[in-house]
Amino acid sequence: MAEINNDINQAKYILDADQLIGLPTETVYGLAGNGIKSEVVSKIFEVKNRPHFDPLILHSYSLEAISAYVKEIPETAKVLAKAFWPGPLTILLERNEKVPDLTCSGLDRVAFRIPNHPKALSLLQILDYPLAAPSANPFGYISPTNSQHVQQQLGAKIPFILEGELSEVGIESTIVGFENGATIIYRLGGLDIAAIKKVVGEVKILPHSSSKPDAPGMLKSHYAPRKNIILGKIDELIPQYPKLKLGTLTFSKFYEDVEVSLTLSRSRDMHEAAKNLFSLLRKLDESNVDLIIVEKVPAEGLGNAINDRLQRAAVKEKIV
Ligand code: TXA
Ligand code: MG
Repeated sequence: MAEINNDINQAKYILDADQLIGLPTETVYGLAGNGIKSEVVSKIFEVKNRPHFDPLILHSYSLEAISAYVKEIPETAKVLAKAFWPGPLTILLERNEKVPDLTCSGLDRVAFRIPNHPKALSLLQILDYPLAAPSANPFGYISPTNSQHVQQQLGAKIPFILEGELSEVGIESTIVGFENGATIIYRLGGLDIAAIKKVVGEVKILPHSSSKPDAPGMLKSHYAPRKNIILGKIDELIPQYPKLKLGTLTFSKFYEDVEVSLTLSRSRDMHEAAKNLFSLLRKLDESNVDLIIVEKVPAEGLGNAINDRLQRAAVKEKIV
């Protein structure tokens, strides 16, 4: 099992020895290693059981440090960075020769993010390289939002997890990039699109495609529990399964007559809902229910990013 503590010097020691650690961030925990060394990046893919066509995000502590790995930083990227970094936003930039092919699956752009987490930032500041860090879950499974989630799933494969408490945002970063002068959103996430629009004007949201390498993080089935899960209207679905033990996950409504009924936010607070999403899905997956039934939350603000994940979690043909 991995050792868990909050010593950033120990984390640095392990990373400098080309090993991997569990890294806390405000979105989800990452599986982190030296992002500019191919051998280390290769280990990340292996431990996560992740296909090589799915590129990684590099994490750094300043725009200046990032500029050493990219050809240029467009004006709009600078504006976004100033407004939202550190924070739950990932920006795609033209990479230079220092970034190995493996890190970005051979694509011309590399994804960068400055996480808003005190432990992660202090660690990144004492390292000589950016950290590649996908979410620290086996590929296709629910993302981790505390150190125990990482321990349960990857603890046997990594030596160390940096303790960083519960992830405040709870869902992955929003991913943006630029094409022909337009700002494109590739993945809905922890930073609300409305906030981005306020700063850069109109944006284009890419419809999610199933398995193309240039469609970031957007495999159809993802964030998925191992149990069967259905997305729909819970009131209509419950009577259809009289013989099964049911678990429900809703925005705020509680169901007395099912085995396990969980709510994302009793007070209907979208940020609280995002923060609870993955740990509650895990709780249902670990419970004794036969079937998990989930319902969409209102499509407002982060609600769209939450619904995106619910939809992907409920796709039947799972990758794992
Ligand atoms: O919040 C987050 O972003 C978390 C924390 C740990 O920072 N990380 C995360 O990483 O969600 P991951 O690997 O689960 O998702 C990263 C997604 C990938 O699915 C990938 O498709 C997309 O970012 N991506 C990375 N580099 C890209 C590139 N060069 N072009 C297009 N998409 C890219
Ligand atoms: Mg992920």
